[in-house]
Amino acid sequence: MNFIGTYILEISYIVASVLFILGLKMLSHPVTARRGNLLAAFGMTFAIIATILWHRHNNERIHNIGYIVVAILAGLAVGWFIAVKVKMTAMPQLVSFFNGMGGACAALISLLEFPKLGGDAHLANMFHGEVLDIILGMVIGSVSFAGSMIAYGKLDEKILSWKAPVFRYLNISILVLIIALAVFIMSRGTVNPQDILGWMYLLMALSLVYGVFFVMPIGGADMPVVISLLNSFTGVAAAMGGFLYKNQAMLTGGILVGSAGTILTILMCKAMNRSLGNVILGAFGGASGAASGGVAGSIKEISLSDAAVLLNYSQKVVIIPGYGLAVAQAQHICSELDKLLTERGVDVRFAIHPVAGRMPGHMNVLMAEADVAYDKLIEMDDINPDMPNTDVAVIIGANDVVNPAALDDPASPIYGMPIIKAHEAKNIIVMKRGMGKGYAAIENNLFYNDKTRMLFGNAKDTLQKLVGEIKNL
Ligand code: TAP
Repeated sequence: MNFIGTYILEISYIVASVLFILGLKMLSHPVTARRGNLLAAFGMTFAIIATILWHRHNNERIHNIGYIVVAILAGLAVGWFIAVKVKMTAMPQLVSFFNGMGGACAALISLLEFPKLGGDAHLANMFHGEVLDIILGMVIGSVSFAGSMIAYGKLDEKILSWKAPVFRYLNISILVLIIALAVFIMSRGTVNPQDILGWMYLLMALSLVYGVFFVMPIGGADMPVVISLLNSFTGVAAAMGGFLYKNQAMLTGGILVGSAGTILTILMCKAMNRSLGNVILGAFGGASGAASGGVAGSIKEISLSDAAVLLNYSQKVVIIPGYGLAVAQAQHICSELDKLLTERGVDVRFAIHPVAGRMPGHMNVLMAEADVAYDKLIEMDDINPDMPNTDVAVIIGANDVVNPAALDDPASPIYGMPIIKAHEAKNIIVMKRGMGKGYAAIENNLFYNDKTRMLFGNAKDTLQKLVGEIKNL
């Protein structure tokens, strides 16, 4: 007869899975995102505790509970410390690093479980689902780990992009080798998997090399897409672990991460108007990305008092935040500008580009943090038709996401990426420190437009002075 705890465990996993799904759903809106995150974390904690209490293998409970608890506490402390310390602008690195850890876990699970397959007569044949499951978990987990570590290094500017056409051929060759080796391992007949453990180590090494070479040539603005793709890999690798252990919570968690990562990858590709193949094989946004055409016109500055007057007496103002606003931590003073102008009867809205900043939803998070009303945050596609009716477009630390070259210069590396059409506004004010380029490292003709006036300086300082000027009007 089954131990009653087995049933409790099954139910606990279903409860945990439901909590993951609800949590994920709640992450899709800023108002509920924090609670959603906590709910999903609670689901995971619940699943872990239930496993420790009720899991039975050959009628024996889990051993080494002391070690498990110490490992969990150590992981918790390190994760907590890193997450609290990390700057908002370094969030993609953090995501990449944590994602790599997930991939490594999945790969190690496979490596540990493979030798335990033996002993059973029917397992003399390696050609069955369990082995395939283990191999997939190991290969995908290793690729995800190695790729995420390289992505982490690149985003943190510790590793430079290394673009060479040779990577394309190397990657295809390694992939073919990996598939061939996996088929070879499965076709080997042995009662003792230890005999062929060496091949598994080789498979893991090849997968790690593939992960490195896969991410190495991808650079610039394509990194978020890669991270999201690697994230979906980790999810799939974890789901393999779920199959292996017949653990529903792990399986659901893995599938959710895998599918959410895939959807995000597709959405980001769409936001940049690129195909996934083009992202992986292309060379957009690297250090060598230069402006295709030259710039026309001259730079014209505006004084703080003139900018204050222009904004104060406008009817419609659209603020376009970008990476520079995040770096300057200018979100709170930006929110104050919004409130001040709104009080004076100006219609102020924020135009949110899907890849502004350095992570998906970066601008939504920043503005939510600064208490900007959610209904003022307007998605790119919704605000663009209204740009010609806008009196002033205020660009704060944004560059690539308002670069008209994406629309009219087929030679530009960002050609085809949808942008916020700031150039269609009646007046344009650009706040940035100097003539520094954006992430794609290309010139921006908008700054030379006749309607554009530059307000140079750190975004936070400039906004503080501007708010002061408007208050004096
Ligand atoms: P960027 O094109 O990166 O431009 C940011 C601008 O901010 C720079 O030109 C810089 O000019 C200015 N800046 C920097 N620090 C500043 C400060 N303290 N005060 C004022 N200005 C400052 O930003 P964006 O328009 O938001 O575009 C994002 C880019 O990053 C896109 O190419 C996107 O594809 C890529 N990307 C996006 C993500 C995601 S998922 N959001 C992740 C990685 C990369 P100065 O030096 O002259 O001040």
